[in-house]
Amino acid sequence: MTLPPAEHTAELPGAIPPPGCPAHVATGPGGATRLYGGAAETDPMGLYEELRAKHGPVAPVLLDGDVRAWLVLGYLENRDVASRPTQFSRDPRVWHGWRSGEIDPATSPLVPMIGWRPDCVCADGEEHQRLRGAVTAGLSQFDHRGIRRHITRFAHQVIDTFCEDGEAELVGQFTEHVPMLTLTHLLGMSDEAGPRLVHAARDLFKATETSLASNAYVLESLAQLVDAKRVRPGQDIASALMAHPANLSDEEVQHHLRLILLAGYETTANLMSNVLRMVVTDPRFRGSLAGGQMTLPEAVEQVLWDEPPLMVCPGRWANGDTTLGGQQIKAGDMLLLGLAAGNVDEAIRPDPSTPVHHNRAHLSFSAGTHECPGQDIGRIIADTGIDILLTRLPDIALSIPEEDLTWRSSTWARHLTALPVSFAARAPQDFDVPSPLPAPPAPSVGTPAAPPWQSAEPEPAPEPERRPEPRPSWRTRLRRLLRLR
Ligand code: HEM
Repeated sequence: MTLPPAEHTAELPGAIPPPGCPAHVATGPGGATRLYGGAAETDPMGLYEELRAKHGPVAPVLLDGDVRAWLVLGYLENRDVASRPTQFSRDPRVWHGWRSGEIDPATSPLVPMIGWRPDCVCADGEEHQRLRGAVTAGLSQFDHRGIRRHITRFAHQVIDTFCEDGEAELVGQFTEHVPMLTLTHLLGMSDEAGPRLVHAARDLFKATETSLASNAYVLESLAQLVDAKRVRPGQDIASALMAHPANLSDEEVQHHLRLILLAGYETTANLMSNVLRMVVTDPRFRGSLAGGQMTLPEAVEQVLWDEPPLMVCPGRWANGDTTLGGQQIKAGDMLLLGLAAGNVDEAIRPDPSTPVHHNRAHLSFSAGTHECPGQDIGRIIADTGIDILLTRLPDIALSIPEEDLTWRSSTWARHLTALPVSFAARAPQDFDVPSPLPAPPAPSVGTPAAPPWQSAEPEPAPEPERRPEPRPSWRTRLRRLLRLR
């Protein structure tokens, strides 16, 4: 999954428009409800309930450009669609909209989400097994304790960059960094690549003028990684993809590296932000954690039920005419998995306020043959990173009124834009890592020169005839990199 490019995303305050407000439910041609703009961005959960009340478990909706699709709202119907790949294909080329001219592939912001790419997301059957086999082999080579060690190191380093300040903005300074540092490490890149890629990935999703340059930067980083690993393979995902008997082409390797990086980063960062927001805004949630009634993995699972990082997952395409949830689906129709709606379907959760401890049957990682293969890694990054943050800064408190929190929203996901907190300033711990950032000038794997929009501070070159400047500590270098914006 690659999250939206956000050309049509909006930054919105937490406030929900009052019922009756024209922004609340927008309808398009044929009276179908728009799943973009208006209520889809300000109150998506409310909109799903209105659709459920009107249409039942499967509702006709319109995507950006008034492109028609079916939104699956029922829990069982979501599982059904995700688990029957012969009836509901994952290959977007099945969609009739490409042929009917319903979409302009050159300009539609939907293309990054529903366009075909040579990766496992867009494949069915044996081709899917071939590509996914290589991905799962790459992900499962790491033992969980080893991954935890790396996350621990990265989380401490990142906290050390702001713990003396007594305040931090946790989305920009923490939740967006720990997953990227971990994923770039697992992919086989140098630790130095992580902070720069955070900025490129954030920029890419925001569809600013520099998004194309950022996308090019991500691709260039991955191309360099592949070249380097061909010469000197290691125990990392890039090397595993290249060596796998599925015999992936260079293009397939690069597409899967990009898929793992972007799919794993954005979702995990979003999950961490949502858990931390609950910690600083909901005294009951925090009290259960502090009092031991709820463990951190249980808290993460609760948030996965209530606020899936990906609320709507594109897409499946009907291989033939069929009936689903009482609706007549035609061959080639597009279906969207309503993961957030399915998670609160009263057929399985009559009272959504009842805690779901120990229950992992939510749809947030989808289901069936395409179910997220990185879910354990996502969970470990979230649990470990948040655990370290709360252990080191147990007194964090939201430093703005809760109603001033804002989100960046789209059809597919909702991202908290900032989580400003304060806490008692503390000294860094200088977590015991001799040199996490490799010394220049040797080119480091997977880190091309900073893209033009980044004002990277170059390492000071020693002047001739003078004693070289002492090399800044790893913490100073990480601080500098994290502050590149
Ligand atoms: C909390 C974090 C995460 C969430 C909520 C999440 C969610 C999802 C969802 C909903 C899908 C779509 C499945 C479908 O189309 O039915 C997916 C697919 C995928 N995810 Fe994740 N994901 C997360 C973390 C990760 C991580 C950390 C990685 C890699 C390390 C990863 C790698 C992938 C891949 C490769 C696919 C495509 C699988 C396929 O099509 O066979 N994800 N994920």
